[in-house]
Amino acid sequence: MSDRPQGPDAAQAAERGVERAEAFTETDLNALCEATQAAILDGGGFGWLAPPPRRALEQYYRGVLLVPERSLFLARLNGSIVGSAQLVRPPRNNEAQAFAATLMHSFVAPYARGHGMARLLTQHVEEAARALGYQVLNLDVRESQAAALHLYESLGFVRWGVHPAYARVGGLTVQGYFYYKLLQQGGMRG
Ligand SMILES: CC(C)(COP(=O)(O)OP(=O)(O)OC[C@H]1O[C@@H](n2cnc3c(N)ncnc32)[C@H](O)[C@@H]1OP(=O)(O)O)[C@@H](O)C(=O)NCCC(=O)NCCS
Repeated sequence: MSDRPQGPDAAQAAERGVERAEAFTETDLNALCEATQAAILDGGGFGWLAPPPRRALEQYYRGVLLVPERSLFLARLNGSIVGSAQLVRPPRNNEAQAFAATLMHSFVAPYARGHGMARLLTQHVEEAARALGYQVLNLDVRESQAAALHLYESLGFVRWGVHPAYARVGGLTVQGYFYYKLLQQGGMRG
């Protein structure tokens, strides 16, 4: 799905799209790894504190495609992959939380920020979760990720908790904020 702005500025405007990855072309996998490395170097919030070797990243992303509970969504700006996010479904044994999915590992490369890519990515993940029948979308973020906090709160995610010892970054303990959003009209059933 692509989202090309209309009107007089359309010629200069960026072409933005989000797609669910089923397989990688070499070009797309390269761009995804480059975007990931750039985001990690920038202090990304994607778990890694230092970029892993390129080969490890490629194996990681190929592995993600094989995990049954995960869907990988790719953000494409002017034809190139610049970010991604994962929709994680609960494992089958977790019947008590079968209604809730989780948005994880969302990032946009520093060189592609400010184009609304993360907003589009989040909206697609949310829509995919809703279409699969999930009633709740959960996510968590380091307190230091100001852009992400603004984005999720502006999209209606509700902060329900603070984890005081969420992550360790540069030798410091960082808090984490936990959010949920009800996806179906009328809230939770039953
Ligand atoms: C969070 C992130 C994904 C946003 O990417 P992006 O494509 O630039 O985001 P968008 O262009 O969709 O804009 C998101 C919103 O954040 C706002 N924003 C950007 N920087 C901000 C900042 N430092 N403080 C507050 N808000 C900020 C933008 O103005 C925009 O809000 P608006 O639409 O109301 O104007 C990107 O900064 C990133 O990858 N950060 C590191 C990883 C991370 O934090 N991931 C989320 C945790 S899972």
